[in-house]
Amino acid sequence: MYILGIESSCDETAVAVVRDGREVLSSVIASSAAEQNLYGGVVPEIASRRHIENISATARLALEQANLPLDAIDAVAVTFAPGLIGAVLVGVNFAKGLAFGAGKPLVPVHHLRGHVAALYLAHPDLKPPFLCMVASGGHSHIVRVEDYTHFQVLGRTVDDAAGEAFDKVSRTLRLGYPGGPAVSKAALSGNPKAYKLPVPHVEGRYNVSFSGLKTAVLNVVNQAKMKDEEISVPDLAASFEWRITEILADKLLLAAKDTGADTICLAGGVGANHLLRSQLEEGAKKMGARLCMPELKYCGDNAAMIAAQAYYEYLAGNIAGPRLNGLATLPIDYSPAELD
Ligand code: KG4
Ligand code: ZN
Repeated sequence: MYILGIESSCDETAVAVVRDGREVLSSVIASSAAEQNLYGGVVPEIASRRHIENISATARLALEQANLPLDAIDAVAVTFAPGLIGAVLVGVNFAKGLAFGAGKPLVPVHHLRGHVAALYLAHPDLKPPFLCMVASGGHSHIVRVEDYTHFQVLGRTVDDAAGEAFDKVSRTLRLGYPGGPAVSKAALSGNPKAYKLPVPHVEGRYNVSFSGLKTAVLNVVNQAKMKDEEISVPDLAASFEWRITEILADKLLLAAKDTGADTICLAGGVGANHLLRSQLEEGAKKMGARLCMPELKYCGDNAAMIAAQAYYEYLAGNIAGPRLNGLATLPIDYSPAELD
């Protein structure tokens, strides 16, 4: 089954064609991140406008690169939640037009479920159940993936998401947007033990909190300014990166130990972080658990992951009618029946 997936929930306009949820035939991304960098973060209005400009050409290119006519596509899938609402609606409306114009089923996909499905593209034999941390710009969850369309949230951030913390620290250190790769790059030449940053206290065994950590970085910068002292940006970036990835890895490994999980997974934009990946590799090895992570190119927002998840949503009968609406928020463990 060939599914054309569409993603437009943040600053990437993406379209992909995936066969049977596992094999990527094409994956095209037009990003407005460079333009958003001028403003220090995503300006929703700009994201929506770029989606409108780019979406038709991106879809045409995805079909061309898959070497398939629209007729050969069996279903059209789209991220319908959660995300920047104006941005989400561009993809939802485009997908509706395409699906109903071509007489194809329309499959609504939850963005975070899509991030989890990026794992199926790299690991053809991976099947639920497994434990997964989804760390992105808007969410940080530890979920048990019961089956392809059933999720149990074990823990989450109580304030900022991990990616958001990277983005805010990057802004504090004037390193640019998106913050994750910028902080990582600056950290390469830094000493991760130079600044002692706190492990924020949080209620809930598998919850995380990053607001205090972000503020601690800001305090270091402000106090240095007041005393007219220099800070070392590489050292502070490295200390922050070390601390946040240690918290993320420790929480996921703790949940894995408690639940006796034999397969541990990482997904989402922050999943591209090399330090986090190596900390988890080490931890999983010690536990004797299998660790699965998406390819770097499928960690951040893309449409291949949406088309992959759509295959399983389609098999589960989750198909939308013409009244499908976009939603800014929706938990990953939603039930499709709630939406009618
Ligand atoms: O999953 P994603 O592409 O979009 C959302 O669904 O939010 O995640 C984007 C987030 C941004 O906050 C970005 O700074 C972060 O992922 N990110 C990283 C890295 N690459 C992207 N964070 C840490 N290390 C990275 N290498
Ligand atoms: Zn995302």
